Amino acid sequence: MKPKEITNNLFYVGVNDRQKELFENLWPLPSGVSYNSYLLLDDKTVLIDTVDVCYSDLFLKKIAGVLNGRPLDYLVVGHMEPDHSGSIRLLRRQYPDVQIVGNSKTFGMLEGYHGITSGLHEVKEGDTLSIGSRELRFYMAPMVHWPEVMFTYDPKEKVLFSADAFGTYGALNGGVIDTEQNVAPFADEMIRYYANIVGKYGSPVQKALQKLAGLDIQTICSTHGPVWREHLADAVSVYDRLSRYEGENGVTIAYGSMYGHTEQMAEAIAGSLAENGIKNIAMHNVSKTHASYILRDVFRYKSLIVGSPTYSNQLFPEIESLLNKIEIREVKKRLFGYFGSFTWAGASVKRLAAFAERMNWEIVGIPVEQKQSGTADTYEACLNLGKTMADKLKEA
Ligand code: FEO
Repeated sequence: MKPKEITNNLFYVGVNDRQKELFENLWPLPSGVSYNSYLLLDDKTVLIDTVDVCYSDLFLKKIAGVLNGRPLDYLVVGHMEPDHSGSIRLLRRQYPDVQIVGNSKTFGMLEGYHGITSGLHEVKEGDTLSIGSRELRFYMAPMVHWPEVMFTYDPKEKVLFSADAFGTYGALNGGVIDTEQNVAPFADEMIRYYANIVGKYGSPVQKALQKLAGLDIQTICSTHGPVWREHLADAVSVYDRLSRYEGENGVTIAYGSMYGHTEQMAEAIAGSLAENGIKNIAMHNVSKTHASYILRDVFRYKSLIVGSPTYSNQLFPEIESLLNKIEIREVKKRLFGYFGSFTWAGASVKRLAAFAERMNWEIVGIPVEQKQSGTADTYEACLNLGKTMADKLKEA
């Protein structure tokens, strides 16, 4: 199939992965994922990033089709995570004279992953590379997922190549640019992608956004998901909001439950939240919902309520695992409520309190601790917790 031309002489040569179950062997991919790569034809030819090694054969065919006999002069490496750098070694074998453009951190990783130490063109912040009618500019974006990440900007066509930034899960179903497809399914997936992959790096994302603020950008070419043009401002706005940890008005309730007693507490709290005017309530049984989706909602909403039975004098294991994922992402500014249950010795509520303290979150409402089956008193306490959180959200 003819590769998509995004702007004058800029071609999409990325691939869709509809086979992998788990991204990073961690995060579910029900709608697949795309590994985007772009090939620019000017006096010089420039490839921006490669794809996962599993797709290198198809990828190399696409590149050869666009080059149509021309040599490949440059490969710009925006990000060294193997979903984008996996095909570099094979690309170099196919095009031995290609100069690889990156920064000093890129080159350390290039040697470590691929043993490549020659044919390198090092760039620093603000450096340019003339390729004919265009002069590409490079901006370092450390920790907008990894330390070597850098953005490439084409001032002539006002295109930003943004590595993982503004990326999303979801393979491309025919269209490449947002104007040629229904992008609604990507809305949730962009938040989930951000929460899973980039979530820890809010501050570096903010720094990168500030750096981009002075550029005239009409098209964003990320390494995952659609090319943003019509919805460019929306994509930037999502990353801006999430990286500031600004939650929408709503509540995530994540609970574990072995025999339904803790679950009934969660139901009572959710009912009370709704009764008191909260419409956005995401309920997650942690044994059933993959943490990937719970993290999405933790990033999406400003309130989180967690419930856990006591299990071997600890938290319920799946809750422990979820809290660990939240903690390593250093999620900020959440309103936190918690509850738990036990049969002979309570530990979960104390451990949830310790978690809230470590996160430096505001605790809302009185935590509810239930022994064995629920009583009228614990039911009432759950309703109060829900109401207090609803009131807090209304005033926030
Ligand atoms: Fe899509 Fe951080 O790699």
